[in-house]
Amino acid sequence: MYKKVIPNISDDLICSLIGDKIKELNESKDKKVIPNISDDLVNKYITDMKDNHILLKIMNEVYKGSLDENQNIDTNKVITDLQNNPEYDLSLDYINEVSKNEHLIRSLVDIVSECFVPRKEIKVLELNLTKGFMAREVDTQLASSHIYPIDVSYTIAVKSVGGVSDDYKNQSFKLIEWNPENSVFPTEINSSNFILLKDSNDLWDIDLDTQLQDMFDVISDKGFLLSVFRYQLTEPELALNQMNGKKALKNADLEKRIVDFVKAAQSVGFNLIARKLDSIGSVAILFRKLFSEPKLPKKENIIQISSNPEKWFETLKEKIVEQKENESTDESLWLIANDSSKNGIIGLINCLRLEPGGECLRCVFDYDNLIKGSVKFTEKPYSDILSNDLPINVLKNGKTLHIDYDNLIKGSVKFTEKPYSDILSNDLPINVLKNGKVGTYRHFTLNKDYDKKESNDYFLNVGHNRDLASLQWYDSKNLVTSKDDYDLINNKTNKIPCNIYSAGMNFRDVMFATGRIASGPQMLFTDCLIGFEFAGRRADTGERVCGFDMSRCYATSIDANDELISRIPDNWSMDDAVSVLSTYSTVWYGLIERAHMQKGESILIHSGAGGVGQAAISICQFYECDIFVTIGTEDKKKFLMNTYNIPENRIFSSRNTQFKYKIKEITKGKGVDMVLNSLTGDKLDAKITKGKGVDMVLNSLTGDKLDASYECIADCGRFVEIGKFDLQMNKQLGMFSFLRDISFIGVSVDQKLYMKRGFVIRFFEWMHKNCDNGMIKPINQNVFKAEEAEKAFRFMTTGKHIGKIVIRTREEESNKNAKSGFTPTKKLVVTRKTYFNPNKTYIITGGLGGFGLEFIHWMMFLGARKFVLTSRYGVKTDYQKFILKRLASLGGNLKQFATKVVVSTHDCNTSEGTKKLLADAQNLAPIGGVFHLALVLNDCLLENQTIDKFQETIDSKTKAFENLDKISRELSIDLDYFVVFSSVACGKGNAGQSNYGFANSVCERICESRRRDGLHGLAIQWGPIGDVGVLADSEINTSLAAVVKQRINSCLEILDKLLQTDNSVVSCLVRAKRSVMSGTKESKLVNQVWIALGIDPKTTPNHLTLGEIGMESMFAVELQQGLEREYDIRVTLNDIKNITIGMMKDFEVGKVDEMKRFADEIKSCRTKLCKVKFIIPSDACIRLNNVTTGKPLYFFPPLEGIFTSLEGLAEKIDRPVIGLNWTRDMQKLGSLKEITKYYIQLLKALEPKGDYDIFGHFYGALIAMKMLKKAPVGRAIIIDMLSEVTLDEDMISDDSLVEIILSFCTKDVPTVIQAKMRRDTMSKPDVPTKLEQITTELKEFCGKSLVSRDLDEILMNSYKRAKLFTTYRLNMKSKFKKMKLTIGEKYMRMSGKVLIIKPFQMVEDVANVERVTDKIKNAYFLPEAGLEGKLNFETVESANTQDLEAHKTIERMADTINKYLGKR
Ligand SMILES: NC(=O)c1ccc[n+]([C@@H]2O[C@H](COP(=O)([O-])OP(=O)(O)OC[C@H]3O[C@@H](n4cnc5c(N)ncnc54)[C@H](OP(=O)(O)O)[C@@H]3O)[C@@H](O)[C@H]2O)c1
Repeated sequence: MYKKVIPNISDDLICSLIGDKIKELNESKDKKVIPNISDDLVNKYITDMKDNHILLKIMNEVYKGSLDENQNIDTNKVITDLQNNPEYDLSLDYINEVSKNEHLIRSLVDIVSECFVPRKEIKVLELNLTKGFMAREVDTQLASSHIYPIDVSYTIAVKSVGGVSDDYKNQSFKLIEWNPENSVFPTEINSSNFILLKDSNDLWDIDLDTQLQDMFDVISDKGFLLSVFRYQLTEPELALNQMNGKKALKNADLEKRIVDFVKAAQSVGFNLIARKLDSIGSVAILFRKLFSEPKLPKKENIIQISSNPEKWFETLKEKIVEQKENESTDESLWLIANDSSKNGIIGLINCLRLEPGGECLRCVFDYDNLIKGSVKFTEKPYSDILSNDLPINVLKNGKTLHIDYDNLIKGSVKFTEKPYSDILSNDLPINVLKNGKVGTYRHFTLNKDYDKKESNDYFLNVGHNRDLASLQWYDSKNLVTSKDDYDLINNKTNKIPCNIYSAGMNFRDVMFATGRIASGPQMLFTDCLIGFEFAGRRADTGERVCGFDMSRCYATSIDANDELISRIPDNWSMDDAVSVLSTYSTVWYGLIERAHMQKGESILIHSGAGGVGQAAISICQFYECDIFVTIGTEDKKKFLMNTYNIPENRIFSSRNTQFKYKIKEITKGKGVDMVLNSLTGDKLDAKITKGKGVDMVLNSLTGDKLDASYECIADCGRFVEIGKFDLQMNKQLGMFSFLRDISFIGVSVDQKLYMKRGFVIRFFEWMHKNCDNGMIKPINQNVFKAEEAEKAFRFMTTGKHIGKIVIRTREEESNKNAKSGFTPTKKLVVTRKTYFNPNKTYIITGGLGGFGLEFIHWMMFLGARKFVLTSRYGVKTDYQKFILKRLASLGGNLKQFATKVVVSTHDCNTSEGTKKLLADAQNLAPIGGVFHLALVLNDCLLENQTIDKFQETIDSKTKAFENLDKISRELSIDLDYFVVFSSVACGKGNAGQSNYGFANSVCERICESRRRDGLHGLAIQWGPIGDVGVLADSEINTSLAAVVKQRINSCLEILDKLLQTDNSVVSCLVRAKRSVMSGTKESKLVNQVWIALGIDPKTTPNHLTLGEIGMESMFAVELQQGLEREYDIRVTLNDIKNITIGMMKDFEVGKVDEMKRFADEIKSCRTKLCKVKFIIPSDACIRLNNVTTGKPLYFFPPLEGIFTSLEGLAEKIDRPVIGLNWTRDMQKLGSLKEITKYYIQLLKALEPKGDYDIFGHFYGALIAMKMLKKAPVGRAIIIDMLSEVTLDEDMISDDSLVEIILSFCTKDVPTVIQAKMRRDTMSKPDVPTKLEQITTELKEFCGKSLVSRDLDEILMNSYKRAKLFTTYRLNMKSKFKKMKLTIGEKYMRMSGKVLIIKPFQMVEDVANVERVTDKIKNAYFLPEAGLEGKLNFETVESANTQDLEAHKTIERMADTINKYLGKR
């Protein structure tokens, strides 16, 4: 009975059996163990016990106790003790790990999260008095249930916080203690959106009604309760309960508990939404709290979503806008689809619910009410309906009536009757009616073995990681050889299907499999680079054959090139045959063909015990050579002595260089004639001894040992190199040895095999000639089974093997001449693998798009050779031309790789176009598959969408797919693949893509219908893709922020597996790393920033801005929205990039106001800057206020030459204020003298009588002072700032002048932005680029509203002016002392009076008027004496030096000026 509950779980079976044993032990006095379970079996399971096998652990302890004959065991006590031990807590057993079962829990959790769309926060409470919490999985599930991030605040109410394991404590869950017996629910968990209750015995004694009422009260309206119960105990649990002696819990008790719970839940007002069971014994029940009674929808709020959007688009749009504008309405809008199983309503509602006004949407996809699929338009009455072409047709009593179809359907939906009444009262957004049941579409993680299957036709290859651990067997089902197959020298090949029995391993395989040697050009043609010799039987004749291929010989079958195989000599086994192939061919070619070995020559053979080494020994013995060998181990030495009778003194270690001296000694200094070498490395860098070396070295060791082997060769000897490593690594050889007439022979048999026709044939001839005469002796083999492939590879890497390593995939039959009835291969669990058929055509709609062009390349690599791509306009971009050209040239001149790519512009949105396309494709070859990638996007919220654009997107996806499905069926085209690239926008929803969602959804339903009909159909919901395609250049939409772009290579790698699954709809996306959501709202937001930027805030300088660190716009949008949504802080995207790390840190600790201030400062500064017109005036003067009567006051221009900064002051002055402009003409004035002269003339023209009042500020003040000396000035007003600036030589440097300009222009910009502008500006090399940078910064900061026509010129002029004035001041400073007297005299004569106004904050010590006056005299070059009665001095309060334009400061300055001028 237990087996029925958990049929495949063997450790539970063991648990159960141990239970039986214990019972048996306790019952029978003689303590005999029942026979159906061996102690070995028990021990095996006990040893493999995992942490969550608690039940097994308990049973084992009890069993151990029961076995102890010396004790009178008290089983009851043992169990009680165990139960008190936290290590044996059954709630942690995997039977109770329900939350890991996606089918049980995720499906329900997703229903909950779907109802919360589009909200981004969810408050969860888990009531769980056991230790088996569900929080981790449920929390992850909720947070990742949509493509935008959801903030889950998760509280777990536990028995005791102290008892909770650390890993739960350290996570973001809030833990509270809850004792249901004596406390009510804590208030902080009020208004939870979702409560999860894990039932346990602790809760059984509490009154159910009170318990449920409590829960009902704390759940928010429309919130959910998910309760998890055990409905059935497993056998071992029952046994344990019985042994426990207490009142044993039975299944009936569990059932009663559930029934009581449901009853109580419903009586307090919960609606029962769904119930799911697992096979082990748990049930999850979902309830919903709905306050309001279900409201019957008004007729106008039910919209029929037919397959034709024209019928409902405008109504739906209108309704959605209405809902958006009327936020308070609680009316739901019901979308009903029941016209076709290929309706896109699911994708439509998924997207629309995320749009403004979409929350009110509910949908029913009513399969039960569908017009049946048996409609045949070729037969009456449908043929009539078709030809009448009326929009609405109803069939009744054999007649066609024309009636209002829309109303008919609406009428058929009765919300007062089941199941619609249930749907209405449950108020779930998505409802699918099928076979009388209400259900929904849900995503589940693909089974971890989804890419595995059982097969008896497979091949070995390395996996993605390219290491030995990734070696695996792949399914060969899809591997097909081209009918027009050519070899690498463009000769047509004749392929013979062979069954493989054994394959030989070569060191080259290990080098490839571990990535130690690069794969070379063969990578272009094959994804498999290992296994190039095999033995087996021809599938047609049964003849035993052995041979070579480029790769993929570790396999159960192969289509072999008939020129590369040969009959196996009768006296050899299959394993014998593979042992001979590469070994003897290498030696034959290296020593006989290339080195022309002669009888009696001497030879040094490295690695003599290896495959090639033994082949060499065998051949050389036949040639009666004088043989020297090197070996690695003593075992190998013994082996060579025993097997080949090599004298001990001819065998040397390859681990050191001693062999060289020994050889010299034995050969009396002559050396060997030949060396067969694959040695490499520094071990053999022995020095040349006196005398000669050996004649030949046959080398098969690798690395930099190569050099030393030369030294063993006699003059005129040959060095035969077979090691791949040094050749591949392009190792350099010393040329000196060649003076001794040594030949270096590099042997690369594989090159010969594939590039020289006839080479293999000659080898086989030689092999057959010498297979019986003793020259060729099969080499001893180390045989491994297919399942041991990795072990075999690892064995070769140890270098311990002697002879040949063979992987055997089939056992050889005793009958060598068998023609049929060959041994089957063993079924293995292998990896599924996609290959395309080179003999078929593949149609790719939209194939010239971003994904399409990558996709074709990948298909080619996996075998496809013929393509028809569709496009509306054909090849038009250079990129498309480039890729198509590259694809055509990939194989160079190799016919084997010749590819045919046809671009078709037939319109698949029509039947005719589709038929033409299929015909064109069939003309190339039978069609193997259709991949539908065509797409036209028209993203837009529905409220702004037009029917044309809406329809265009839908048509681009659905029409062609429908046509291709329908017509390929009609033409009985057998398609291996029928695939559409759908989108996560359909599966999860995305605002603004309702048309795209609808369209993809239709395609998904088509795939489902094809699968139902036994045809291939697959829709892949991709997430956003990087590198290529529609989203390649765009930032991810903000709402997609929980997912990141998937690289195209990764997409293709997954596609390889997805194409082999049996599902109709799959999804593939890359989730963004979820930030650790703990702490305050602010810290969560900031935490996301740290993660998005990938920085450690502790080590990142505070002054850096987010933009400088490289924040992507995508996340900037997120942050911008977060600040606006949560704190009403509105900043532009550019400003987000100006936020500094320091500000983020402040924000993180709750200084929200500072961020607000920052935003306000930016706003006001931008407004100010945008008021400034950076335009050079053309008039000589300008009115700065509206006062028209009275004596004018003339303003000299400020440094920037524009009066905007002084306008506020001018407005408040009671006299007309005239600004004396800095015009373009003035640029030629090169000194203060000339400037003063210009202004004297100007003022003379304006005020011929003189006695004019003037005003100067900063450098303008200098002009004013100069005017005092030279012109008939009445009064002069100076806003003094210069006296505070200490004058020194550095001030004239370029950098400090630029700094002056910068601080003038950016005086109102927030300090952090100012600092960043300074950093960027000062990093530029010279003045022009620095000034350009200021322009760029200002433009970037202000955006388009900045009036910047002459900004560049103004900055350059300001710079020149600043230089002129500063130089003047410096010159004057040095002359001043000498000139003091003269100046003094001049001032004595001057008529005007001066008012110096000092902004308060600028003065260090205002009280000390004398000191301040002295400073002023110095700054403006005034004499110490003689100004009595002429120099007036006033201070006004100002906030700070930067704040001279502050309202109050201006008012006070104006006041002072007005009073002063008014005195006259
Ligand atoms: N890229 C992504 O991030 C992403 C994500 C999820 C799903 N997908 C899916 O993947 C597929 C390929 O996407 P992609 O990024 O490669 O898009 P893409 O670059 O825009 O390519 C789509 C191509 O479809 C062609 N097309 C449009 N209407 C056509 C028609 N009536 N007949 C024939 N061709 C037509 C267009 O070519 P012409 O202008 O030459 O006609 C266009 O080049 C799409 O189906 C898309 O839904 C992509």
